[in-house]
Amino acid sequence: MFAGIAGRYDVANRVLSGGVDRSWRKRVVKRAGGDLTGKVAIDVACGTGDLAGALDKAGARVLGVDFTFEMVAFGPKKVRPGMWVQGDGLRLPVGDGTADLVTIAFGLRNVEDRRVCFAEMLRVLRPGGRAIVLEFGMPDPDIFGRVYKGYLTHVLPRIGGALSGDRSAYTYLDDTVQKWPDAETLRQEMAQDGFVDCTVERLWRGIACLHVGDKAR
Ligand SMILES: C[S@@+](CC[C@H](N)C(=O)[O-])C[C@H]1O[C@@H](n2cnc3c(N)ncnc32)[C@H](O)[C@@H]1O
Repeated sequence: MFAGIAGRYDVANRVLSGGVDRSWRKRVVKRAGGDLTGKVAIDVACGTGDLAGALDKAGARVLGVDFTFEMVAFGPKKVRPGMWVQGDGLRLPVGDGTADLVTIAFGLRNVEDRRVCFAEMLRVLRPGGRAIVLEFGMPDPDIFGRVYKGYLTHVLPRIGGALSGDRSAYTYLDDTVQKWPDAETLRQEMAQDGFVDCTVERLWRGIACLHVGDKAR
């Protein structure tokens, strides 16, 4: 599915989010420490490299990993050459304890088993390193939440389909976001799986959630 929409993925993202997705990725950089000079970062399910590019600009040495070749093929435009690899987030091609930071943006919802992904993120982090998960969520079911739900179900698949040529990819987005656990449940899962000091920040009233968890020192 991602291979089919790779060429139009960035344009669809910008239009569907009204550009807001960029500010969410900037927030990830801030929560990672802001100035990442000299830090080693692994961006799992990096896609076309939007977050990897932002981490790179902040000074990190980034490795982007994604199993869809067509998505990572766009990476070099945003990240210095050689800093991306086709690979599986459930079996990261990286040694134990090598990274200061591991991120995954809008990718965890797509992996087959997110608990395996958490274990991999912990494995590759050095003690005291940080994991950041950016993922969609659902706002509270007030007026804003109901309008957003209508947008997600009825408007987004039409526009996403027209822009990318694959409407089912955006119906899939709606399905998976609505089935996704709420912010607090995911925060608890991260804590159960071994991350410490787990926090969650709801962005845009919960449309996106930013989870942060550290590896114990
Ligand atoms: C919605 S895109 C997100 C891309 C990017 N992180 C962003 O913020 O735009 C989801 C990505 O997850 C990747 N993906 C899904 N399962 C994966 C896995 N097990 N290992 C690596 N990448 C995976 C897909 O190939 C796709 O590029």
